[in-house]
Amino acid sequence: MRILVTGGAGFIGSHLVDRFLREGMQVRILDSLEPRVHPHGAPRYLPARAEFVRGDVCDRNTLRAALEGVDLVSHQAAYQDYMPDFSRFLAVNAVSTALLFELIVAHRLPVKKIIVASSQAVYGEGQYHCAQHGDFQPAPRSQAQLQRGEWEISCPACARTAQPRRLEEQSNNPYNQYAVSKLAAEKTALGLGWLHGIPTVALRYSITQGQRQSLYNHYSGVCRIFCSRALQGLPLVVYEDGCQTRDFLHVDDVVEANLLTLARDEANFQAFNVGSGRPTTILDYARQVLDLIPGGAGIEISGEYRRGDNRHSVSSVGKLGSLGWRPTRGLAEILDDFLAWVQSSGGIPQQVPDAIAHMRSAGVVLSAAQAEPVPN
Ligand SMILES: NC(=O)c1ccc[n+]([C@@H]2O[C@H](COP(=O)([O-])OP(=O)(O)OC[C@H]3O[C@@H](n4cnc5c(N)ncnc54)[C@H](O)[C@@H]3O)[C@@H](O)[C@H]2O)c1
Repeated sequence: MRILVTGGAGFIGSHLVDRFLREGMQVRILDSLEPRVHPHGAPRYLPARAEFVRGDVCDRNTLRAALEGVDLVSHQAAYQDYMPDFSRFLAVNAVSTALLFELIVAHRLPVKKIIVASSQAVYGEGQYHCAQHGDFQPAPRSQAQLQRGEWEISCPACARTAQPRRLEEQSNNPYNQYAVSKLAAEKTALGLGWLHGIPTVALRYSITQGQRQSLYNHYSGVCRIFCSRALQGLPLVVYEDGCQTRDFLHVDDVVEANLLTLARDEANFQAFNVGSGRPTTILDYARQVLDLIPGGAGIEISGEYRRGDNRHSVSSVGKLGSLGWRPTRGLAEILDDFLAWVQSSGGIPQQVPDAIAHMRSAGVVLSAAQAEPVPN
């Protein structure tokens, strides 16, 4: 079996590459080595046993050549992060996925299955329940609400605070450029896969962490930003009140989800959440980082918020669970592995403190005029 892994030099893709090699597959990587992810070129962990093609998944000739002789495709390459070049998200993430199917169909390539990396981001502001009015999908919180420091989601019918539900696959409500591009890619893949009889699966990863996460991406990465600041003795800057919840997943669990859905026909033509299923508040996350890296300046609730952030995002993992998948690793292992990776890489690069300043000057991080700090 030969598998093409797009984005195989990246964080998740490289773990998949290693695992596919261990499974005895022949692996071809197609990766453009995006400078924001790989400023020093090809990462040292790229295995010699994998064939490496440097190129853009949106380039027709490059992708056509990379698909030659391939049985399976793992499409992990994507443009991501909190960048303001909106059009590029669609141009890379959605167009590359459509091009993949276009080439397979046009050249009648004998690809047997495609796994597409999607994201929990497709849920947008999430799924909520009001005791009186039932379930609803909120619109993103307004700038006016955020400026008032009113962080929680209210029922649109009665304005009472609503309860977040675990995110379920059947509905989605994306609104930022990344989320829309991932849903477009996912719908394109599942739709064209179905119409042309190419078994396809979309996996909606929650926040994935572990070894080989890029230490350079400018904006994102609570793990990298918190660890970096703690190592420098700087306060961990927490947005909103720190009680927003997220769902953190170890990369090894993501790899297992890919292997399982690749092997199982019951998964075909469906989207699955791949998450921990457990809520962790950002404050708790910060505290766990400080337990591991003591001696810093504590936690600073800055009274700011990040444009486009949602309040609570925790995926239900029952659907993938019914195929036998379980997340096996918790936050402690995630942080241990990430810190080991930082150490083996010679530390976190110095531009991280600038990321916060940069987000402020780019209007991504904004101040909530009347935000009330929660004691930490
Ligand atoms: N890491 C997460 O928390 C997370 C969460 C949800 C979804 N995802 C999705 O998982 C996939 C992998 O993410 P990751 O965290 O490993 O990211 P990453 O940035 O570490 O890896 C992405 C790789 O894709 C390559 N790439 C980017 N644009 C390309 C292009 N046009 N042509 C060829 N290669 C290109 C990059 O050089 C990089 O090596 C992405 O599709 C991402 O949207 C990741």
